[in-house]
Amino acid sequence: TMYSKELMQHFRKPRNQGRMENPDAVGKGGNPVCGDVMYIYLKIEDDRIEDVKFETFGCAAAIGTTSKITEMVKGKTLDEAIEVTKKDVEEAVGGLPPVKRHCSNLSASVLHKAINKYRSEKAKT
Ligand code: FES
Repeated sequence: TMYSKELMQHFRKPRNQGRMENPDAVGKGGNPVCGDVMYIYLKIEDDRIEDVKFETFGCAAAIGTTSKITEMVKGKTLDEAIEVTKKDVEEAVGGLPPVKRHCSNLSASVLHKAINKYRSEKAKT
């Protein structure tokens, strides 16, 4: 396989997978080239990620990296979570083949979208 053991473990047994009822923020992203789509749901309390779930309709790398990123940011503050980069995710799953890098980029950008959306909505109230 072209994937690391860590990535395959997350692909076969995704953590925090599924829809969340009444999330405080949702990030959505997709890749028009492959057609893959993902959602990250956040439950936020006092600017900390209390709970996180994801749904990814896509390739093994997309599912594995989204699963990994949920594990990485659960319990973190929003300030800490927004610092998690696509490179961090890629390293955390033990690397990805170059053709699969966009898949891990997707998970980080969808997380950032969810956080930014939460912050801009909060700024309005
Ligand atoms: Fe599209 Fe992986 S091939 S996200």
